[in-house]
Amino acid sequence: MSLRLNNTAPNFTAQTTKGTIDFHEWIGDGWAMLFSHPKDFTPVCTTELGYMARIEPEFAKRNCKIIGLSVDSVDSHLKWEKDIEETQGAAVNYPMIGDTELAIAKLYEMLPADEAGTFEGRTAATNQTVRSVFVIGPDKKIKLQLTYPMTTGRNFNEILRALDSMQLTAAHKVATPVNWQDGEDVIIVPAVSDEEAKEKYPNGWKTIKPYLRVVSQPAKI
Ligand code: BEZ
Repeated sequence: MSLRLNNTAPNFTAQTTKGTIDFHEWIGDGWAMLFSHPKDFTPVCTTELGYMARIEPEFAKRNCKIIGLSVDSVDSHLKWEKDIEETQGAAVNYPMIGDTELAIAKLYEMLPADEAGTFEGRTAATNQTVRSVFVIGPDKKIKLQLTYPMTTGRNFNEILRALDSMQLTAAHKVATPVNWQDGEDVIIVPAVSDEEAKEKYPNGWKTIKPYLRVVSQPAKI
């Protein structure tokens, strides 16, 4: 059965470039992002993993650990990391999982469907994981997932933007509008009555429609 938002992220033990981990223990009390790439020593993946190395401090600021995955071995990852640093100008300090048995790739449905849904008889190409992202909350539930094809590099700034929204909306009864960025106005969710809103937002809000009420971003908790 496919993984859905609010499912508990399946736990696993894995070999990584930073040693063996139990995924849930590794996550600890914070947030985590698990992301897969198709193959080491390929061009788009090199730019993606290099960019993640550069912006890892932004994830750390948000109490979110990051961990990569492909079906390549840990040895391969360790060799490739040198190329990433050389070409992208940032050292990879986050762990990368070597999922050579495809155990986690199958558990998280990171493989493409090109082989009629069976894992037997897969070709080398279809054994590569697509570009999946799972953001997992401190409760170990899946909060966000996205899947990009092999030939399209992801925009990891969008994950940071979504993390800001998810962390804010976990703490306050608000939602964030299209293209929202941290610090911008937010929306009071319809479940909050005007009476309740008056208590929460004594300085007021703007009612554009009864269902569309906009207020300054509340302080982060
Ligand atoms: C790449 O990272 O460049 C790539 C990997 C697999 C298929 C296509 C592109």
